[in-house]
Amino acid sequence: MSKASQLFRGKILHFPHATDNPDEDVVYIHDGALVVEDKHIVAIGEYADIQPAYAHAHATVIDHRNHWIMPGLIDSHLHFPQTEMLACYGEQLLTWLENYTFPTERKFSDPNYATAMAEVFIRQLLKNGTTTGLVYPTVHANSVDALFNAASSMDMAMVTGKVCMDVNSPDPLKDTPTQAVDDSLALIKKWHNKGRNCYAITPRFAPTSSREQLQGLGELAAAYPDVFIQTHLSENQQEIAWVKRLFPERDGYLDVYDHYGLVRPRGVFGHCVHLSDKEWARMAEAGATIAFCPTSNLFLGSGLFPLDTARKYEVPVTLATDVGAGTTFNMFRTYGEAYKVCQLQHTRLSPLQGLYLMTQGAALAHQLSHSIGNLNPGSHADFIIVDPAFDELTSHRLHNKDSKEETLFALSMLSDDRSIRETWIAGSPQFQQQEK
Ligand code: GUN
Ligand code: ZN
Repeated sequence: MSKASQLFRGKILHFPHATDNPDEDVVYIHDGALVVEDKHIVAIGEYADIQPAYAHAHATVIDHRNHWIMPGLIDSHLHFPQTEMLACYGEQLLTWLENYTFPTERKFSDPNYATAMAEVFIRQLLKNGTTTGLVYPTVHANSVDALFNAASSMDMAMVTGKVCMDVNSPDPLKDTPTQAVDDSLALIKKWHNKGRNCYAITPRFAPTSSREQLQGLGELAAAYPDVFIQTHLSENQQEIAWVKRLFPERDGYLDVYDHYGLVRPRGVFGHCVHLSDKEWARMAEAGATIAFCPTSNLFLGSGLFPLDTARKYEVPVTLATDVGAGTTFNMFRTYGEAYKVCQLQHTRLSPLQGLYLMTQGAALAHQLSHSIGNLNPGSHADFIIVDPAFDELTSHRLHNKDSKEETLFALSMLSDDRSIRETWIAGSPQFQQQEK
């Protein structure tokens, strides 16, 4: 028997369809109703239209008239073992990996440690309104189990897969070409499309995979066309020069992945700050996606992601925190930093465009929009209740100015996790802020 209906009343904001123009094609309902039954959304519309149909005995009305109801946010690139190492001082990518990242990731060989940190990580996602992540664990297969187990326990849609790295990394973090393929295959069979889980074949980045490993992972990807592929690409100039030295036979960084069959739809490439024209064209042709990680790119001094170029080549872009090179779990703040990265290049990134990149735009890029990224009937009931005017400063800023654009922009510049009152996953409240 399905659960009774729950009707959420509030200011509703979402993008029901794919659009090139999120500023126009947004649905905003000032006094809206979202109806949830069991794990799914069953109705959305004006409260006055919807309420009478659900006025039977079992419909519970939950009043959020002063709050906003939006789809759960999608973070398209972040690292769960790096939760404990946000804000490590002073390095750029390659020395940051050596000095901070690899020593931290070694701890995850202990399954108990990985399980405990997966739970901490998911709590951070939920309190910031993120309901789906494309996540890097560590090289250890148990870290994948830890994350999928934690997500599955609340029916959260999770995308992750064992990090593969067999060269240019500390010995305790190295796998081998065979082990990478065997472990990834076993984990695909165990987790991919089980419940709401999706597997991602995850070579860390070209410098830490041998040709043999990339070859094996490419063959695995060919055998599983609907599995995700995630990796890093063209983040930092030293990294790019290193890839050229390591793979002189290839025509640039992207071509390393491409040669081994790793560039395709559901291929999600973190950063892409310094692509060549040829690489932009190839990304578009292959249907691959970019995860734009502004706080990380600023923090590691990697460069300014050229959103205009991505638009010119029509390469799908999503937003991502890239925790722990990224400096926040909060996707609204991440949009705020993306806005500044664009400002420095005289490019526009409006608040509604930003929201699209972390909801429906991301869901479409990841071929998951039947389930996440929007508030359409039939989608999973993954949504957030947001109070943008949560403190003295924000309530003054938004006083008599509660347009959707003003609200989102204030959220992006001034807010933090205090604006997220509740995070619902598959029809259940998984985070609720304590009353002040
Ligand atoms: N490139 C390879 N590994 C990483 C990582 O963990 N973080 C970032 N930002 N870039 C990477
Ligand atoms: Zn990353």
